[in-house]
Amino acid sequence: MSSRRELFLEEMGLTPLWRLRRGEAIGDSAAAQPQNLTAATGEAETSQPLSLRSVQDAEGRATRIARMDWDDLKETAAACTACGLRKTCTQTVFGVGDEKADWLIVGEAPGAEEDARGEPFVGQAGKLLDAMLAAIGLKRGEDVYIANVLKCRPPGNRNPEAAEVAQCSPFLLRQVELIQPRMILALGRFACQTLLETDASIASLRGQVHRYQGVPLIVTYHPAYLLRSLPDKAKAWEDLCFARRTMVALRG
Ligand code: URA
Repeated sequence: MSSRRELFLEEMGLTPLWRLRRGEAIGDSAAAQPQNLTAATGEAETSQPLSLRSVQDAEGRATRIARMDWDDLKETAAACTACGLRKTCTQTVFGVGDEKADWLIVGEAPGAEEDARGEPFVGQAGKLLDAMLAAIGLKRGEDVYIANVLKCRPPGNRNPEAAEVAQCSPFLLRQVELIQPRMILALGRFACQTLLETDASIASLRGQVHRYQGVPLIVTYHPAYLLRSLPDKAKAWEDLCFARRTMVALRG
């Protein structure tokens, strides 16, 4: 670890937990073989029955979004009022980073600071995320793209609703298609369960390579949760090392 990175992690109060263990080189691919590849397709269901008309509208909208380039996609997301969240948030938080990144990090939804600044993961959880990325040699914006399942902040940081996820999903789906990441790292129960369409716990999903739209996906705990639960930081560190080794294997 470079002394600059070490200083940075110390600043975050994260050493020595995020330090690479002796013998666990970032590029070590010995134990990196992806396991248990599972298929996950389709979109989240809304909680209410939809009329044929609204199903057709939603399909038409999803099809239009699926054809957009970056500029159209950003503009459309910024102007989106498909769910009620745009009425209560300050601005949409589309995503940030290298639009050709190998790594796509997906969180839940913007919080207060993200809503104010228009960028994902810029609050306390974001600082921890940056430190976690730094610990495996990654940096926001450099071969890394960060986005959320929801582009608008739910009021009071309440849990996203199924209908909001259904309306917002086409944006993330198109982001994935345009970025074509080699790997998705899903942060926290909500992002993991939404992308994998499962109710399974993070604990049971860890340590496997899943798939979202054909892209290998690895799960780990949400940094906001890790700020409250120190014991699980060690598990998240294992997940990051697993993700890094898997990326090395995927790159061949
Ligand atoms: N939590 C998230 O899931 N996303 C953010 O952008 C910030 C906090």
